[in-house]
Amino acid sequence: MQVTTVDALMEMSHGYQRSMLLFAALDLGVFSALAKGPSDAARLARRLSLDPRNLSILLNALVGVGLLGKRGKVYRNKEIADRFLADGPLSKASILLHHLNCWTEWTTLGRKIRGGRKRPGKKKGYQENFIRGMEDNSRERAVFIAKKIPLRKGERALDLGGGPGTYAVEWAKRYPGTSVTVFDLPETLAITRKILKEKGASRQVALREGDFLRDRLGGPYDLVWISQILHAYSEKDCLLLLRKVRRAVARGGRVAVQEFLLEEGGTSPPGPAFFSVHMVAATEGGKAYTSGEVSAMLKIAGFRRIVKGRPDVRGVGVVSATA
Ligand SMILES: C[S@@+](CC[C@H](N)C(=O)[O-])C[C@H]1O[C@@H](n2cnc3c(N)ncnc32)[C@H](O)[C@@H]1O
Repeated sequence: MQVTTVDALMEMSHGYQRSMLLFAALDLGVFSALAKGPSDAARLARRLSLDPRNLSILLNALVGVGLLGKRGKVYRNKEIADRFLADGPLSKASILLHHLNCWTEWTTLGRKIRGGRKRPGKKKGYQENFIRGMEDNSRERAVFIAKKIPLRKGERALDLGGGPGTYAVEWAKRYPGTSVTVFDLPETLAITRKILKEKGASRQVALREGDFLRDRLGGPYDLVWISQILHAYSEKDCLLLLRKVRRAVARGGRVAVQEFLLEEGGTSPPGPAFFSVHMVAATEGGKAYTSGEVSAMLKIAGFRRIVKGRPDVRGVGVVSATA
């Protein structure tokens, strides 16, 4: 939304309060507790060991934004809170708690723009919320992508920086007789193993530990899937990585890069433009790229027949190419 009035300016300035209302309730376990049954503030406060007066003020505000309903003194989750904020298969809790963790990085944004490099240390549980959050974000998209980018029997696919392995599991499930590997950092794969076990998919996907900028990627692969990776790295590191990928792809094999893509000029869509600022705050050298920039990097790395897919409403799009 464009800021053209004083009201809109005030709304932008207060935006963090709306976010924090959601984060606080989620972090305190309010939605999961109410999913077990409606409750008044005093009973809920006892159950969650919270201050009843302050909790009731928080609950009233949550009623105001539509996440809770209230009859007399009793609060209950609205459907959206039951489905997406309480524990359950559709829960978005991990990605939202990851957004809360990123808060700390945004508080030093000004320092980063001044040219400072030092970042605050990561909170305990950061990596787990981050990786499980990637699963929250990619559940539906992975089904769409695995259909759109098929694997033939005997083909070998690499999910580079595959995190929770959502895409890898979807390919392995959909195309039996293929081999799918997730390559990621050891601290991430520790979480990936837990997720695969919970899904009963430990045997469907191979895991390869390493730092993709430093270590061998293995291969050759018929498909390398690089989803939401490049934005965390500078152009120089992206090129280094794509050149390594080029060497790891079999002759005639494919690479597909999925990103929050900016339009040329870099000011829209708003999602990727904001995300690019997030990368300034959270990484050393990262930013959101345009599909033109991704294509140019793929070309320099030695790929050909580059195809730019149309981004979805959030600006997520795929640029693919052949080795
Ligand atoms: C934003 S997540 C994307 C996860 C997944 N590809 C997806 O789209 O849902 C970035 C992933 O890249 C991994 N990663 C980042 N830097 C890495 C590196 N240098 N070597 C290996 N993996 C890395 C992270 O651990 C994380 O799993």
